Amino acid sequence: MTKVTAPAAKAAEAFQRLHERAPEGVWSAPGRVNLIGEHTDYNDGYVLPFALPHRIAVAASPRTDGVLTVSTLGDDGGVQSADPAVVADLVPGTVKGWAAYPSGVAWALREQGVPVTGGADLVIAGDVPAGAGLSSSHALECAVALALLGLAGVDAERTDIARWVQRSENDFVGAPTGILDQTASLCCIEAHALFYDVRSGKPEQVAFDAAASGLEVLVIDTRASHTHVDGGYGARRAGCERAAAILGVPALRDVDSAELDDTLVRLPEELRPLVRHVVTENDRVLRTVELLRTGKLADVGPLLSASHASLRDDYRVSCLELDIAVDSAMAAGALGARMVGGGFGGSAIALVPVERHGEVERSVLAGFASRSLARPRLFTAVPSAGAGRDR
Ligand code: GLA
Repeated sequence: MTKVTAPAAKAAEAFQRLHERAPEGVWSAPGRVNLIGEHTDYNDGYVLPFALPHRIAVAASPRTDGVLTVSTLGDDGGVQSADPAVVADLVPGTVKGWAAYPSGVAWALREQGVPVTGGADLVIAGDVPAGAGLSSSHALECAVALALLGLAGVDAERTDIARWVQRSENDFVGAPTGILDQTASLCCIEAHALFYDVRSGKPEQVAFDAAASGLEVLVIDTRASHTHVDGGYGARRAGCERAAAILGVPALRDVDSAELDDTLVRLPEELRPLVRHVVTENDRVLRTVELLRTGKLADVGPLLSASHASLRDDYRVSCLELDIAVDSAMAAGALGARMVGGGFGGSAIALVPVERHGEVERSVLAGFASRSLARPRLFTAVPSAGAGRDR
């Protein structure tokens, strides 16, 4: 069992208050940042995330009447409860808003043959910043998945659970996302980044200790909102699939970077930047993994910045706030910086020498203030434990 985290204790207390009994168990799952490898997951490529210390916890007990109740504890201590749902009757499209995430997981597990139709009471508490591109919704889904599997007494491979959670998000919630975030939340371990080859499905832990190199990964939550249920993400994903079909390859992962220029001319002009991003980004992940393995962490900086430029100029998923975060961190001595996650808002990361922390932070805050943008939230990210049972 993982150690009891503050969200786990809060979820257990709230459960006791609401249901006047202790939960049968508490499970939690972390948010993530992706060191590098963006928009590569749904192209069968490579990603390199690590788990944040921030977690979403789910206190849970089984029911026998087939009903799923879900309540969530807000930052103000208030509890919001979704309309109770009958698990056996869950159908995609029937649950709207935040409740679609936990209900979708129950639906996906049911479809998978996991005995969840008895129902359950779930109470959620967490500290993963919501809407910040740090995977709060995936952390919620992964914690719910572990809770429902735990109540059902079913043990499953983490990579399989990630696929079931992805299915709930794609088919129930209606967000066409890849498998990066669920895999990160479920498979990451402390002090490591997770090198995940989506095609092979084999997670590999790579030691990642920035502090030992006098560095830190600073997260800059721009507070610019983002969502992947609307069109921008899906349009790019569809563009990648169209390009792969034209090139006659199963996925863009199969485009050889040494032949990139020759490959691009075979594509309609509007698809070329998408392909260039995916192919070069996969390459950057492999180079980053190599640098981590050989302890050359500082050399990762330029790869992060190249990733950002590619996401900004070729993939076109950055935004003003993300560019300001990256540029102002670099101007104050960051070794590299990039947006993380799907884009259109959310967070950026900067690789910063520890002694430049103050300067970088001041520069970022000043960059936002000078454009009258909301004050971003900054924190140092330490690779933390993946999802697990807390009690
Ligand atoms: C979002 C999605 C992931 C991945 C990233 C971009 O976070 O949920 O599957 O595609 O965007 O790398």
